[in-house]
Amino acid sequence: MPGAQYLNIEKDVLRILMMVRGYVSEAKLAQQLGILKSTVNRVMKELMAKGFVIDFHPELGYRLADLDNLDQAYKYVNYLDTEIKFYINYVEVCDSTQDIALALAKKGAPEGIVILAEELRRGRGRMGRQWVATKGGLWLSIILRPRELKHVHLLSLATATALAEAINSILGVDARVKWPNDVLINEKKVAGILIEGSVEANIVQYVVVGIGVNVNNVLPQELRSTATTLKDTMGVEVPRIPLLLNMLKNLDNAYGLLKQNQTAEILRRWRKLSSTLNRYVKVITMNGEFEGMAENVEEDGALIIRTLDDNKVKIYTGDVIHLREQRP
Ligand code: BTN
Repeated sequence: MPGAQYLNIEKDVLRILMMVRGYVSEAKLAQQLGILKSTVNRVMKELMAKGFVIDFHPELGYRLADLDNLDQAYKYVNYLDTEIKFYINYVEVCDSTQDIALALAKKGAPEGIVILAEELRRGRGRMGRQWVATKGGLWLSIILRPRELKHVHLLSLATATALAEAINSILGVDARVKWPNDVLINEKKVAGILIEGSVEANIVQYVVVGIGVNVNNVLPQELRSTATTLKDTMGVEVPRIPLLLNMLKNLDNAYGLLKQNQTAEILRRWRKLSSTLNRYVKVITMNGEFEGMAENVEEDGALIIRTLDDNKVKIYTGDVIHLREQRP
């Protein structure tokens, strides 16, 4: 087998294994890559010799053994086939990954730098709230540099969609997005997104996309009526690296659309997963509270509410509460 081609097969095998949470059979790998089963076997030996830890099960096949060790995420991200070159900096514990990423971005750090932590001492949420981020969750901040301000709102919808799509494809659940960027499973919050950054003279200097996903962390009692974790949803621990990699891949794709002004496609994906549209909601904003039907999301990411007295209100920032009862 020629060397370069063999190396490509190694990469392809890794790319399949690192994106899924369980075992992949020898037959499936061979079929997907159009290679012999004996080649799969040889590739696995090569990968193990290079330090990848691979489990083998005679009936189920192969799986990467360290897909929940976040300190190993940096090595897998190198194999992601993305436009943005993601570079992962892992820290065991910090106050907030947002602060580290914001400071780096301010100093000129490039797009794609990710700060990933096992635990946050002072996790920050939207609207000045605290975000509980204990061990076992997925807590990260990504530096991006979209030029146009109008892209920032859409980036927030696009990130939520990228994350919900990743959760659904790995776990086969029905995660949904709540405007602007919460991810819900069975109406309980499983993930939140916080976008911070710097804008000068209407030009975005940088943004930091903060993503918090409740994966295997234990939620404090007071959050359990409104929030959930992936572990609680599945009944088993969920490895975090496939989730992280799928999400980065989806985000890269959506960011490409954003840069080409393909707004309609970003909104189409968001609408498909929306749990907010066509529902009666209460919206709490800095300018007051509104109740009404969530009619649409516009080109710029704003939510359109039809109030009970038939006014149309356009909302850019705020908290949405899905109301249980359907008002007239
Ligand atoms: C929300 O309020 O829904 C947004 C929560 C965002 C939390 C994440 S966890 C990683 C990053 N670092 C932080 O301090 N916050 C964000």
